[in-house]
Amino acid sequence: MIPLETSRLILRNWKDSDRDLFREINRDPKVMEFFPFRRTPEEADRLLERVRTLIETTDFCFYAVELKETGEPVGWCGLSDASLPEIFPEGTVEIGWRLATRYWGNGYITEAAKSLFAYGFTHKGLKEIIAFAVAENRRSIAIMERIGMTHDPKADFIHPRIPDTHPHLKPHVVYRITAEAWRRSSSA
Ligand SMILES: CC(C)(COP(=O)(O)OP(=O)(O)OC[C@H]1O[C@@H](n2cnc3c(N)ncnc32)[C@H](O)[C@@H]1OP(=O)(O)O)[C@@H](O)C(=O)NCCC(=O)NCCS
Repeated sequence: MIPLETSRLILRNWKDSDRDLFREINRDPKVMEFFPFRRTPEEADRLLERVRTLIETTDFCFYAVELKETGEPVGWCGLSDASLPEIFPEGTVEIGWRLATRYWGNGYITEAAKSLFAYGFTHKGLKEIIAFAVAENRRSIAIMERIGMTHDPKADFIHPRIPDTHPHLKPHVVYRITAEAWRRSSSA
C-alpha cells in the first residue's frame, strides 16, 4: 500500500539518495540519545538495505518520511514486528519513529503516525498497535499521547537487551491503541 500520502508528507520505501540522511540519523548523538550505540556509516548502509528489502517483501518496517514540498527525506516512521519476544507475544506490532534533529518541532511524526494507524487498522487488519520507549524519552512519549495511545503501566518493563553500562536506558514505558479505540476516536 505504500507510498502513503498525508497533507505534508510521503511515506515510501528508501532510495539510494536517502543514504546520507540515514547515516546522519544513525550517528547523531541527539537522535541516538536513548540508544546505547551509534552506527558507523557502513553499519547504517547495511541496515538501510535490510529495511528496504523488508519493505519490498512484507510492506512492513520503517518507511522513509519525505517532505512533499521539497522532496527531502527527513526521517522514518513505520509499523514493524516488535522483535522483543522476551517481553511481547509473537505478532505484536509496534509503531516507531526517528527524525533528523533539524526537522523536530513541526509535527511531522505526529502526522505520519496517524496515517499509519489508518493504514494498519484499515488495510492490514491489525487489532492493536503498541509503542515503547525509554521512560525518559519525553518527546517520543509526547507523540504517543498526542496520537491517542494509552499508557499501560502494567506492561512497563526493564529492557533485557540494554547493557549494564547504560542503566538509565533500561526502564521502558508501553503505550497501546486498539483498532476499536482508534475507530471510536477517528469517528468522534
Ligand atoms: C521522537 C522524535 C521523532 C520527536 O520529534 P518531534 O519533532 O518532537 O515530533 P513531531 O514531529 O510529532 O513534532 C511534535 C512537535 O512539533 C510541534 N508542532 C508544530 N507544528 C505541529 C503540527 N502541525 N502538528 C503537531 N505538532 C506540531 C509540537 O508542538 C511538538 O513540539 P513540542 O514537543 O516542542 O511541543 C524526535 O525527537 C527523535 O527523532 N528523537 C530521537 C529518536 C527517538 O527517540 N525515537 C523514538 C524511540 S522510541
